[in-house]
Amino acid sequence: MQEKYIDENKQGEAFAIAEKPTNSKKLFLESYGCQMNFSDSEIVASILNEQGYNTTLNQEEADLILLNTCSIREKAEQTVRMRLSQFKSLKKAKPNLTVGVLGCMAERLKTKFLEEEQLVDLVVGPDAYRDLPNLLKETDGGRDAINVILSKEETYADINPVRLGGNGATAFVTITRGCDNMCTFCVVPFTRGRERSRDPHSIIEECIGLWDSGYREITLLGQNVDSYLWYGGGPKKDFKSASEMQKLTAVSFSQLLDMVAVAVPEMRIRFSTSNPHDMTMDVFEVMARHHNICKYVHLPVQSGSNRILEKMNRQHTREEYLNLIRNARQIVPDISFSQDMIIGFCGESEEDHQLTLSLMKEVEYDYGYMFAYSERPGTPAHKKMEDDVPAEVKQRRLTEVIALQGALSRKRMEGYVGRTHEVLIEGTSKKNENQWKGRNSQNAVCVFDKQEGQKLGDIVTVFVYGNTQGTLLGTAE
Ligand code: SAH
Ligand code: F3S
Repeated sequence: MQEKYIDENKQGEAFAIAEKPTNSKKLFLESYGCQMNFSDSEIVASILNEQGYNTTLNQEEADLILLNTCSIREKAEQTVRMRLSQFKSLKKAKPNLTVGVLGCMAERLKTKFLEEEQLVDLVVGPDAYRDLPNLLKETDGGRDAINVILSKEETYADINPVRLGGNGATAFVTITRGCDNMCTFCVVPFTRGRERSRDPHSIIEECIGLWDSGYREITLLGQNVDSYLWYGGGPKKDFKSASEMQKLTAVSFSQLLDMVAVAVPEMRIRFSTSNPHDMTMDVFEVMARHHNICKYVHLPVQSGSNRILEKMNRQHTREEYLNLIRNARQIVPDISFSQDMIIGFCGESEEDHQLTLSLMKEVEYDYGYMFAYSERPGTPAHKKMEDDVPAEVKQRRLTEVIALQGALSRKRMEGYVGRTHEVLIEGTSKKNENQWKGRNSQNAVCVFDKQEGQKLGDIVTVFVYGNTQGTLLGTAE
């Protein structure tokens, strides 16, 4: 999956198939938003697979429809509401059909969802999926059911996710849940709760299991992977001091990365998302040490202006961010970076905007994910700041930022031309069925003609002879 966030204008992805011959009921499960939601849907499918449900891609034959929703921007929520309205006729035709909402919107709106959307029978927050079997008993009895309790411990560590609709070569492995950072614009701390790290043994076990099932690339997932810290469980605040915590046999993110790289030495490893404030140099050192850790970091910055970074509570400056990039490039010379940028945050001036553009030029990102600021109810920015950049100004600045990123991406792609790259085959190119598509270590998409003997999941040496803005054109050697 090249895109980190699913385009909010597109419909969510419904993906099959979790089959168990003895199961008689059908689940239609559609996911919106970030990779974490897609990964969570695999946990939900696994739980429901044990409850008699196989997944289906055909909503008409479903007994249960679940939407795993996103709240990150208003538009994401509108998309889900529109989708829900499309189920009305289905529900009329099939009164026993249960429609449920999972994920961040469920958590944000809670019982309001049941009041606002008459169609919805079931509302389940991201930490309550284990309760689905009980909640479904309620809905089977004709009652609405809701569980939006957030947990300080739940990591679903023992649940083996069913791999839905992937390509069979690449998979997500969740390592942390929730976020403690409290960026002022962000709804995630409210919808996904406190940050907690998953037991490293269960992570390693899952990675080895994936290798044995033929997977050749994993992405370690978390809202903020760099703050991964395992110290035997329990919330961080239960420890009186950092030194007390250190005394326990803690595992940090760089140590986890190292452990995974050793445990599955031929598996390609990626991770997402990194946070500049929590990222440490030892992560880059581990990256440099292991050939199987991809040389790519998604490092959201949100703005190039210190004034705005402070208002966003990002806890780092422009200079610190640039320093981090500079140091990383010294340790891992061929590393590539991508960004997230929020355009038109409260009080953003033309000068701030220019600073964002100049930061982008300085870093020369390979990719970017750029969004106009969307005020989210309940966030610190909503409570204390004014969303005062007019929509047309946001749009104009966004267009400028996207255009600049386009030019930078093209430049970076050009830099990959004339060299060979290790490309992992992820599937057939959408445009040409005689070509494979895959990605190099730096996460650049590469297409090349298929040759006898090559198959999904193979790592192929490809000579890159040309490029477009976002794709490398190559020939396998
Ligand atoms: N650490 C997380 C960030 C989740 S939010 C991760 O795993 O990626 C993803 C991105 O959405 C953020 O980096 C930010 O650029 C964008 N975003 C978050 N809140 C937003 C808002 N209120 N308006 C516009 N974009 C927002
Ligand atoms: Fe959101 Fe900031 Fe956490 S963007 S997910 S609060 S790191």
